[in-house]
Amino acid sequence: MNSEHPLAGQTADPCCMVIFGASGDLTKRKLIPALCNLAQNNLLARQFAMIGFAYAQMTTEEFRKQLTEDIKQFATSPVDPATWEWLVQRIYYVQGDFADASAFSKLKEQMDQCEKAHGTHGNKFFYLAVAPKFFSVVVKQLGDAGLTDEKDGHYARVIIEKPFGRDLDSAIQLNKDIKQTLKESQIYRIDHYLGKETVQNLMVFRFGNSIFEPIWNRHYIDNVQITASETVGVEQRGGYYETSGALRDMIPNHLFQLLSLTAMEPPVSFDADAVRGKQAEVLTAIQPLSPEDVLRKSVRGQYGEGTVSGKAIPAYRHEQDVAPDSNTDTYVAMRLMIDNWRWADVPFYIRTGKSLAKRVTEIAIQFRRTPFVLFQNTTITDLQSNRLIIHIQPDEGISLKFGAKIPGPVMNVGLVHMDFDYETNFGATHQTGYERLIYDCMLGDATLFQRADMVEAGWRVIRPIMDVWKALPARNFPNYAAGTWGPHESDEMLRREGREWRIID
Ligand code: BG6
Repeated sequence: MNSEHPLAGQTADPCCMVIFGASGDLTKRKLIPALCNLAQNNLLARQFAMIGFAYAQMTTEEFRKQLTEDIKQFATSPVDPATWEWLVQRIYYVQGDFADASAFSKLKEQMDQCEKAHGTHGNKFFYLAVAPKFFSVVVKQLGDAGLTDEKDGHYARVIIEKPFGRDLDSAIQLNKDIKQTLKESQIYRIDHYLGKETVQNLMVFRFGNSIFEPIWNRHYIDNVQITASETVGVEQRGGYYETSGALRDMIPNHLFQLLSLTAMEPPVSFDADAVRGKQAEVLTAIQPLSPEDVLRKSVRGQYGEGTVSGKAIPAYRHEQDVAPDSNTDTYVAMRLMIDNWRWADVPFYIRTGKSLAKRVTEIAIQFRRTPFVLFQNTTITDLQSNRLIIHIQPDEGISLKFGAKIPGPVMNVGLVHMDFDYETNFGATHQTGYERLIYDCMLGDATLFQRADMVEAGWRVIRPIMDVWKALPARNFPNYAAGTWGPHESDEMLRREGREWRIID
C-alpha cells in the first residue's frame, strides 16, 4: 500500500449502486461522503450511477439538493466542486415501499435508464442501509424483479448492514432466507470495524513483521485485553438499543473481529476465503461457556446518572425511548478462552460499554513477566511486564512498553514506551471508514466482509450469556455511574485471577 495515497489503486468496475434507506442517517453521514472521497481519489469508475431508494416522498432534484446540503456538513475532506457536480449528476431517487413489487419494477426501469445514460455495464450493487426486519424482504423483491441475476459476466452484489440477526437462530434463518435468492459470493455482510485502517493493519502488523509472530502465543503472552469504551450514551437510539443492549450491539460483530484478527492463525494468502476461514476457525475454537461460567466469567452493567467530560449525564433508564425499569445492558465484559495450541491458558478479556470514562478502542497484549531472580538482591521490588498496545481509535497507532533502568547509582526500573502513531507517520486519513468497504465490494473482494459461518460462530459464543441473562434478569441495575470504567464486578472478575484491567489514561 502506498503510504502517501492510502487509497491509491485501480479504478473500481463500472456499476449502478442502489442505496436502500437513502433518506436515513447512514447515507448522508457515511455513504455519500465515502463515495465523494472515492471519486476524489479517482477510484470510482467514470461509468457510475447511484440510485437512492426510500419511502420518503422526494424527487431526484430534491434528493440531489438535500445531499448537496448534507455533504457540506459531513464531508471528511474538502470537496472539490467539479467532482461533486460530476457525482451529483449521477444520483437519482426512487420512492417506494419495500413490500411493494411495483416499486422494484420502477427501480429496474431507473437502473436500465442509468445503464443507457452512464454505461454502467449491467453491474448492480445494492446497499441495504435499512432496519434489519427489511433485509429478507428487500433481497426477495430484488430477486423477484430479476435484479440479482449475474449474466454475461455482470455482477449483482448486496451489502447487508448490521445487526445480522439478533441471536443464533435468527442469523441462521436470515442466512437461509437470503440464500434462496443470492449465492454466498454475492453477499457482503458489512462490519464497519473492518473499514478502520488500524484494524486492517492488524494483519500487516502480525504477518508482515518477523519479530512478533514467534512471541505471539501462550509461551510469551499472559493475557489479551480488548476494550471498546464509548463516552456517548444511547443518544437518539434508545428504541433500537432497548432491543439490543451492549452484548448484541458490539460483541459478536466488532469485538469478535478484533479478537479473531488478533488470535487467528496465519492464512495462506490474503484471499477472502483464506483469511475468513482462519477467522472463523478461531471463533469456533472459543470455549463454550457453561451457565456457571456465565455467572463468573461475564459481567453486565447499566449506567446510572453521572458526569462524562464535565457534562451531567442522565441514567440510561431516563434516556429517550427507554423503559423506566429497563434491564438492558449498556456494559459487558467477559473472559474467553481459545481452545487451540497457540492460546491454551491465555485469557482474552473483552469489555465494551456506553457512557464510560473515555472513548477508546484498543487491544492490549500483556506479556509474561521475566523471572525476578536476577533482581532479588537489588532495590527493585516489582518488575512490570511488557505490554504491546494496538490503538484502534481515537489515537491510531501501536506502542510497546518495556522496563528501562532509571539513570543513577541505584538500580531502579521505570516503564517507558516506544510509539508508532499513524498521523505522524502517514498523515491523517480523513476518511469515513466506508470507502475501502464500498470499493472492495465494487471490485468483488470480500476479505473484509463477514462470511455466514463467521456471523453464526459469533452468535454461538454469546448464546449461553444471552440465555442466562434472560433467565436471571439483573437485579442491581444501574450498577455503574456514567463517566466511570463500568461496574466493580468487572474489576473483580480479573482480580480473582490476580490480574487487572489496563489503566487507560
Ligand atoms: C455501532 C453500534 O455498530 O458501532 C453503536 O451500533 C456504536 O452502538 C458504534 O456506538 C461504535 O462504532 P465506532 O466506529 O464509533 O467505534
